[in-house]
Amino acid sequence: MKNYMTLLKKLLANKESLKVLNDIAGGLDTAALILDINGNVLADIGRGQTDPVSESGSFPVNIKGEQAGYVMGSQKAQVIVSILTYMLAAEYNKRDLIDEVFNRYKEINLFYDFTEKILVCDDIKDIALLTLSLVKNFIKADTISIMLKNEETNWIDVITASASAHAEETVKNSIMSFSGESIAEFVMFSGNAEIINDISLDGWTAPGGGKTGSMMCAPLKIKDKIIGAINIATENYTEFTSSDLKLFTTLSYNAGIFIENVRLYKDLKEIFISTVYTLAETIEMRDDYTGNHTKRVMEYSYAIGESLGIEKEGLEALRLSAILHDIGKIGVRDNVLLKPGKLTDEEFELMKKHPVFGEEILNRIKGLEHIIPGVKHHHERYDGRGYPDGLKEDEIELNAKIISVADTFDAMTSDRPYRKGLDPKTAADELIRCSGTQFDAKIVDAFIKAFPRIDMSKL
Ligand SMILES: [Fe+2]
Repeated sequence: MKNYMTLLKKLLANKESLKVLNDIAGGLDTAALILDINGNVLADIGRGQTDPVSESGSFPVNIKGEQAGYVMGSQKAQVIVSILTYMLAAEYNKRDLIDEVFNRYKEINLFYDFTEKILVCDDIKDIALLTLSLVKNFIKADTISIMLKNEETNWIDVITASASAHAEETVKNSIMSFSGESIAEFVMFSGNAEIINDISLDGWTAPGGGKTGSMMCAPLKIKDKIIGAINIATENYTEFTSSDLKLFTTLSYNAGIFIENVRLYKDLKEIFISTVYTLAETIEMRDDYTGNHTKRVMEYSYAIGESLGIEKEGLEALRLSAILHDIGKIGVRDNVLLKPGKLTDEEFELMKKHPVFGEEILNRIKGLEHIIPGVKHHHERYDGRGYPDGLKEDEIELNAKIISVADTFDAMTSDRPYRKGLDPKTAADELIRCSGTQFDAKIVDAFIKAFPRIDMSKL
């Protein structure tokens, strides 16, 4: 009602509209007062005509069944009421149209922004956070949960992003069994989005079993396959509308495509890493080691990387470099690689070429350029007396320095046919002794920090 009254005031504040009404009153030879529903005079039209307002009646001005104000005047003023009602309806529809255009514009902007940002997400957690931040611009939401069917475990993986007014945005992972009691399962089964405006009345369980006021849940579909559901929830009662649901469903459809892409990408990456790992192990089997050298170098390197605070993407590159650090040994002849005794100078020179062979192999594989320095320089020394390039200090790439420490520690602690491996503590002391000469002291420190008790009983 208040909105219609505002609309009436706005209409009468327009000089053109007022002139039309004055002209009509003049034509009718009458005067009239236009008032809001509280009795405040908004316009005094036709003043000076022969038909005084004091002899008048009162006629309501209605729009869409609601009273916006009223007109006082003679019976002739009813014509003013009709014209005013018509003008108000036109003004209302115009405003409706502007709102509609503005909302469409906001929606288009939302999806443009969403698509642009989601393209660089390589983690479902990031997608959850991004979806939450965008949804919140348009729909009331305190949490967003992405629920994905896990066909291997037969559970539901849940990624929940929450943002309250008093806290930072957080993301947590959990799992949920198929209980048949959650709205998400119902939506996954039916394939239709749902609004639950009062969860306590409707008897549904909120995702994660938490207390929730209202929820909207939409299926995550890839073509006709339902891979999960996406849910937004508010802590307090919220009246979600069908246009909220429509917007949310469209957003969920887009999120579904990207979530599936992230999953496929992760699967591919895992397949790639396990293929590379198998390749490295196959090469290792030619060697005299007792086995699992690659695995241990990878684990030690990763632990050092974490201890140095290297970010997720950097750790992935480090892991690959560590797996492939000795791939160049494939180019070293058996009679040199497998020779039990001491190598001649010429044989040692050939052996020292394996990092360069590794570089040559990896150069042929598109997308692995970033791991080459770690492979090529894992035998460089901090004091510059290593090979193949005699690099020193910070000329040596970080991953290469890390692999050097991990590789040497494993070589020292591994049993060979001609000698027993050192115990971990002695080997760690040896790393410390060679800090600043063979190794970068920062990397040795990070190794000690990663394995403070140096127990490693399962070496
Ligand atoms: Fe090596």
